[in-house]
Amino acid sequence: MTTRLGIDIGGTGIKGAPVDLETGTLLTPRERILTPKPATPDAVAGVVAALAKHFDWTDSIGAAFPAVVKSGLVHTAANVDASWVETNAGEVFSRVAGVPVTVVNDADAAGLAEVKFGAAKGRMDTVVMLTLGTGIGSAVFHNAELVPNTELGHLKIRGKDAERRASEIARERDKLTWKQWAKRLNEYLVHLEALLWPDLIVIGGGISKKSEKFLPLLKTTAEIVPAKLLNEAGIVGAAIASS
Ligand code: BGC
Repeated sequence: MTTRLGIDIGGTGIKGAPVDLETGTLLTPRERILTPKPATPDAVAGVVAALAKHFDWTDSIGAAFPAVVKSGLVHTAANVDASWVETNAGEVFSRVAGVPVTVVNDADAAGLAEVKFGAAKGRMDTVVMLTLGTGIGSAVFHNAELVPNTELGHLKIRGKDAERRASEIARERDKLTWKQWAKRLNEYLVHLEALLWPDLIVIGGGISKKSEKFLPLLKTTAEIVPAKLLNEAGIVGAAIASS
């Protein structure tokens, strides 16, 4: 059995668990530590090291991070502390945790998990995974191969970043009914479909647990389904990315 420690770095919590890479299941319940404030690279690295220690982990780790990440280097900071830009998160985490840490974009991680074990398992056509949370994250696949670091949450709709209008946070902030929010989300999906023509759209993020409230209100050309791995997708996908 190949196992990896997967860590999902979010705005409120940093969650980790050892993952069985053959089945995509967590080997123990996940451990959650509150995201430090401010969430600077050193502070977050301390939490990654604490999670490694908690699980007595001495092997490679995968970490999912909410920004564009190329070879460990963070390039953007839409919803994270500005000090991350130009930081090599892979190097900082590896140094502090004392083991190799591979860092990938959080939505890419969630997508990898859904393609390997979840709602997009076995799909060889074009799949778009969207995570609706504080921001909107995206992962694009064809032939089950990821095109990393797509940032489709930042498509402009009515002159604004789509994530400012159609994320889960936007629904709460603007106190939208499911119908009102679904209308915004649909406007975004229509735009996205016109550009990418996916065959399958997988909706992830915490809100995917309530998919019966809004999926029936959406009218897309592509098939649209909720994610299967729910709040474990980031952990499982981070583990896959580190293997
Ligand atoms: C970031 C993405 C991230 C998404 C979800 C966006 O604001 O730009 O990199 O995947 O939020 O966390």
